[in-house]
Amino acid sequence: MIELRGISKAFNKQPVLQAVSVVLPDVGIVALHGGSGSGKTTLLRILAELENADCGEIAGIGSKRVSYVFQEDRLLPHATTLENAAIASDNACARQWLERFGLGDSFDKKPMVLSGGMRRRVAIARAFAFGGNVLLLDEPFTGLDAGNVAVLKKEITRFAQTGLVILVHHGEDVLPAYDMRLTLENGQLQSVI
Ligand SMILES: Nc1ncnc2c1ncn2[C@@H]1O[C@H](COP(=O)(O)OP(=O)(O)OP(=O)(O)O)[C@@H](O)[C@H]1O
Ligand SMILES: [Mg+2]
Repeated sequence: MIELRGISKAFNKQPVLQAVSVVLPDVGIVALHGGSGSGKTTLLRILAELENADCGEIAGIGSKRVSYVFQEDRLLPHATTLENAAIASDNACARQWLERFGLGDSFDKKPMVLSGGMRRRVAIARAFAFGGNVLLLDEPFTGLDAGNVAVLKKEITRFAQTGLVILVHHGEDVLPAYDMRLTLENGQLQSVI
């Protein structure tokens, strides 16, 4: 399991996270909710060790391989779809995931000529190709059509059979069944169900 103990973070002296403590399971889906600016992305970035907490600690994450779909797609503009998706894995694996998300005929295209939803799917394919045992998803459904929402939900559920998914999404409309729900409000985790 992964344990967050008293995680606090402020930007420019404005507290964003205040003594956030929670125990996360090794497998399953954790839904992370909260209004805009409540600190969801900041919490994911701290979990991925892209941001340092001001105080507190995280136990149990060091042995994990963490994959991340960022809130923004973060594709390399001069790299092709396949190169972007394979950046943290290999071509064969990236090809499979791109095909899974309907991008089998777009391997050689650059991000600039892709639609927003296609770019989102490249970022998602990149994360699944990397694999790992923790998958952080920051509003992954943005821009996806119903067919790709269904594919993503299925793959999230499959990943969560052997690893932990932490899923940020506004609203309940497209969420897969989750095991735990966290809500960030005023810097604190208000509910753990
Ligand atoms: N690098 C940074 N420098 C300064 N302030 C930051 C930085 N990153 C985040 N913040 C601030 O921290 C607060 C939380 O931001 P965060 O991106 O974590 O919110 P969020 O819950 O993900 O919001 P949204 O739902 O809009 O994505 C916001 O007030 C934001 O302006
Ligand atoms: Mg965010």
